[in-house]
Amino acid sequence: MASSSGLGESRRKFLRYLALSPALASPALLSGSLRDALSLYLYDDPLQKTDSGSESIASPEQALNVMEFEAVARKKLPPGHFAYLASGVDDDATVQLNHEAYQHIAIRSRRLIDVEKLDSSVELFGTRWETPIFLCPVSSMKAFDPEGEVAVARAAAKQRHLQMLSTVGSSSIEDVTAARGAPVWQQLYPTNDWAVTRALIKRAEAAGSPALVFTIDHQENANNETISRGRRVDSRDCSLCHSGGFSAYLRKKPMFKGMDVSKVTQLYAPNFTWEFVKRLKDATAMKLVLKGIVTREDAEIAVEHGVDGIVVSNHGGRAEDTLRSTIDCLPEVVGAVKGKIPVLLDGGIRRGTDIFKALALGATAVGIGRPQAWGLAAFGQSGVEAVLVILRRELEKIMRQAGTPSIRSITRTSVTL
Ligand SMILES: Cc1cc2nc3c(=O)[nH]c(=O)nc-3n(C[C@H](O)[C@H](O)[C@H](O)COP(=O)(O)O)c2cc1C
Repeated sequence: MASSSGLGESRRKFLRYLALSPALASPALLSGSLRDALSLYLYDDPLQKTDSGSESIASPEQALNVMEFEAVARKKLPPGHFAYLASGVDDDATVQLNHEAYQHIAIRSRRLIDVEKLDSSVELFGTRWETPIFLCPVSSMKAFDPEGEVAVARAAAKQRHLQMLSTVGSSSIEDVTAARGAPVWQQLYPTNDWAVTRALIKRAEAAGSPALVFTIDHQENANNETISRGRRVDSRDCSLCHSGGFSAYLRKKPMFKGMDVSKVTQLYAPNFTWEFVKRLKDATAMKLVLKGIVTREDAEIAVEHGVDGIVVSNHGGRAEDTLRSTIDCLPEVVGAVKGKIPVLLDGGIRRGTDIFKALALGATAVGIGRPQAWGLAAFGQSGVEAVLVILRRELEKIMRQAGTPSIRSITRTSVTL
């Protein structure tokens, strides 16, 4: 006989399934009281839920999948820091949809194809990577582990993955590059002061960064309610790290060290337009990648402006709520770009099959944000390594199963929408 909590869980799963079924998923159809009634079941409280549904693991080797690191991270981190990691905006609906959207895509496996030798490598700007899985820029990673981005860099080096570094990371590009043993891609929050923008660019160039990833999807002051709820239950004295306002915050960030940040009031200015993209293009020989494009219109304008690459991203649901999932946005962006520049994707990637589906719909490479931080918070460098190993293993498993021995052989016909 099912336990009452088991019954609750299966009812919850059924209602979730109902709410997410294609017939009801459209906001136009799923509206008003029905949506209200189902919303309870649609959107879990990230401070409570356990994706893996299992007891937490004691070592990285025990992990069956990357979600199991989330449960350990939740236990180990102070509530304020876990909430910072988990948070989206408003009801965190975009966070959830980013992953759940993959459940509506099915894989079309082909049989009797020689998959003995597998090649999961991809090329980006003339560099060949063994795997299409990259590490997204994630800010303030020392909130999850004392070694922060440096531990991530060591894991990326050991497992040979592309890493992107946040402008507001808690480690400098010089330290991260040294730990990676190779250049990383620098993510850019340009700020509202061009002198600082220029200094950030020069610093990335001096560190050998081949690409500058301009994040264009995050205006200031997002409504991160999950962060606020986490803070409410965090009884520690956090004033050492969290006092002094915005300029004190910036001065603590290693990427701004030695820069005059007295005129900086914003990381992303609300008056940025495509003119600013032109200005960035003219200011550097690094490849310019725009992170945060979710429409065909913007993808077309990006190509017209000579942008070198796009990341289809919604900031892991941290900027706007009730967006489409990134996987839903991918086909129109890929269609608009017409193969002229690489289209990367992130958001909600938790399984090798998710990566496979994104590749099938035209992504050149696929990034993970939260899973790397779960691994880091749970077990430091070895946790990040385990996350990368699991995702790569899962991807290679489904490539074999689906009869697709190379990334090129994963095509639109490999999935149904
Ligand atoms: C805690 C946290 C901090 C982040 N910081 C940045 C950042 O500094 N710059 C940036 O471009 N994106 C940032 N992101 C977004 C990620 O780069 C990425 O787009 C997103 O996490 C992908 O979704 P996922 O977490 O579901 O994998 C952050 C995400 C998280 C969870």
